[in-house]
Amino acid sequence: MSVSYGVTDRVAVLTVNNPPVNALSLAVRQGLSDGAARAAADDAVDAVVIMATGRTFMAGADIREFGKPPVAPHLPEVIDTIEALEKPVVAAIHGTALGGGLEVALGCHYRIALESAKIGLPEVKLGILPGAGGTQRLPRVGGVDNALQAMLTGRHIPASTAATWGAVDKVLSADADLQAEAVAFAKDRISDGVRRTRDMVLDGAEYGAAFFEGVRASIAKQSRGYFAPERIIRCVEAAVSLPFDDGMARERELFAECQANPQARALQHLFFAERQVARVPGVTKETPRRDIRLVGILGAGTMGGGIALAMANAGIAVTLLDTGQDALDRGLGVMRGNWERTAKKGRMTMDDVDRRMGLITPTLSYDDLADCDLIIEAVFEKMDIKREVFARLDAVAKPGAILATNTSYLDVNDIAAMTARPDDVLGLHFFSPANVMRLLEIVRAEKTADSVLATALDLAKRIGKIGVVSGVCHGFIGNRMLGPYGREAMLAVIGGTEPQAVDKALFDFGMPMGPNAMSDMAGLDVGYFNRQSVGRENYETSAYDWVDRLVEMGRKGQKTGEGIYKYPQDGRTPEPDPVVADVLDAEREKLRIVAKPWSAEQVVERCMLALINEGAKILGEGIALRASDIDVVYINGYGFPPYRGGPMHYADAMGLPAVLSRIKALAVENGPRWWMPAPLLERLVDEGKSFADFDRENA
Ligand code: 3HC
Ligand code: NAI
Repeated sequence: MSVSYGVTDRVAVLTVNNPPVNALSLAVRQGLSDGAARAAADDAVDAVVIMATGRTFMAGADIREFGKPPVAPHLPEVIDTIEALEKPVVAAIHGTALGGGLEVALGCHYRIALESAKIGLPEVKLGILPGAGGTQRLPRVGGVDNALQAMLTGRHIPASTAATWGAVDKVLSADADLQAEAVAFAKDRISDGVRRTRDMVLDGAEYGAAFFEGVRASIAKQSRGYFAPERIIRCVEAAVSLPFDDGMARERELFAECQANPQARALQHLFFAERQVARVPGVTKETPRRDIRLVGILGAGTMGGGIALAMANAGIAVTLLDTGQDALDRGLGVMRGNWERTAKKGRMTMDDVDRRMGLITPTLSYDDLADCDLIIEAVFEKMDIKREVFARLDAVAKPGAILATNTSYLDVNDIAAMTARPDDVLGLHFFSPANVMRLLEIVRAEKTADSVLATALDLAKRIGKIGVVSGVCHGFIGNRMLGPYGREAMLAVIGGTEPQAVDKALFDFGMPMGPNAMSDMAGLDVGYFNRQSVGRENYETSAYDWVDRLVEMGRKGQKTGEGIYKYPQDGRTPEPDPVVADVLDAEREKLRIVAKPWSAEQVVERCMLALINEGAKILGEGIALRASDIDVVYINGYGFPPYRGGPMHYADAMGLPAVLSRIKALAVENGPRWWMPAPLLERLVDEGKSFADFDRENA
């Protein structure tokens, strides 16, 4: 039974039971509808409570049913049935009342919640909007501004905050007996009678056109490119200006528009993709985990410092080692500065800053790493230094300690071989800034033990990251794909496109910044040294020689105030530089290239096809476990627009036959060296399949 019916003290209790999150599947909708009808007809009942068992109240519509033909009873009708009851109905909330779950609660006449509970309308994150009355009812019970904030951010709102809005009538202590309290509350409401949200009058006077233009302006930056936010605003405009039923009709119309938009499929794909990543062959619930209490970090530079921040933010103690007191002091100073800025913004107290600093113990001695459960190396990207460091770690680390490298490109098998315990070694590739970026690539080397991998996956969650497993190859999943993408962007420039035009094309596609601005931010010298170690025969020299000339002139990007752009204003805002145009002209002459600008479509197409083809190779080689893992990497590590679902989903949306035929055409135009289609791509096209099919078959 998805919804059970019981009567206590003349109060009917409808209890939803649909693990794991009590999603409003067909059976639950039917159960609620039947339960409401039964309570209406039951002479032994004067009031009704709706609640759920297990870990949470209803967490929303069943996302798995999206894309399939909807089956009655539809949720808006179920909620109308509940709201129309002549007996008071109380929603009793624990866990999270989200999306359709909150909409059910808003259709009830009263709401009570445990202190630990949260409510929210997170539909925007799935590319849609609340489609069962949420856009009409939350503004009525919670206020127009609050409702807009809730729906546009999708944030989870604590019960106590919701109570200040008027959206929750009573907050109970976290350990209260929810059912008993709800029954008592419902009995007390019998004399008050029903209180229907639909009948609440919204005074639209103060919410004119200027108000909504202000809302639009305030979200313009964060919602750039997204389809649903504008539709949410239109729904609320309807809520303040139209009668309830007309507002509902408008919501229905705009909900259908969102569902029909490809962004909904992309974001729903991402929802499940992010939950798939933790499914890794060899790792089960039973796989033993190692206890991680103390983490050693080698290198107090950009990455070591950021990783230490991430650990301490999660309450994990750190021993931080560098080669000199200066480097340690600098690292600790940067960390304190980072927390102090957070404190200044009011997001933590100065006591919190001191407490977190107290979790970091600096040292110059390897002996102090002897107690660490996990040691993460983040020293210079040089193989000989990494080898030496791992040999020393092997000598001091306790048995069972996990040894990790944060290398961007180097061979983790070679690094592991420097120790007598390669099964304890893996890559933990954080992204800069490591305390902010959600992605953690977990690099499984040939001998990495399952328990080490399982521990790393758990740790990722503990520190608020999304851990994606990658096999060993040059650059792992993300940086390996970045190579061909960057190559095409740089070819566009040397080919005659202005750097700012290349950046604009990709920014307009939805990337947070273009590749030229990004290279300047990361430091042009990083790629320069990488190319030197890789060797000229292994990359497209014509794409990068002009960048190397800039580095040789001392233009290393933002850190020297000049790179592909100059930064005269504030050190961060790029401006085109005629000096760079001269360098480009000289290089073109040398390479006998006649400048011919690429169109924005051409820039995007070539960069995306390069990304997709490399992704298909990575998938075919088994470096990534599934195409959706690659999407998660690109969205969380490189800012690929979530509403496009990641490069592999984007390829599926284009259709793999079209992708392959464009790649083949580029091979004809430009030579096959960089445009050999990935064997897996050819195979999938032959078989009439998509990357999503590949994932399903390999699940
Ligand atoms: N539908 C279907 N399955 C869902 C689901 C949903 N709404 N919400 C969660 N699940 C599944 C997950 O896929 C996962 O399945 P798995 O174990 O097979 O991978 C399982 O439930 C557990 O989910 P989490 O791993 O995310 O569990 P957490 O405890 O970390 O988080 C949660 C719980 C906060 C409820 C989180 O799952 C969540 O945010 N869910 C989505 C909530 C949501 O977006 N609701 C709105 C839906 S759209 C809607 O309601 C439209 C309406 O307006 C008409
Ligand atoms: P960095 O130059 O900012 O910091 C390196 C630190 O290591 C310095 O403080 C240095 O004094 C210290 N160090 C050098 N040799 C050491 C040794 N033998 N023992 C202890 N400490 C030593 O470098 P960054 O950027 O933090 O990079 C570190 C590693 O992280 C590299 O492998 C890099 O490829 C990788 N990485 C860098 C990213 C970035 O965006 N900067 C992103 C992801 C990985």
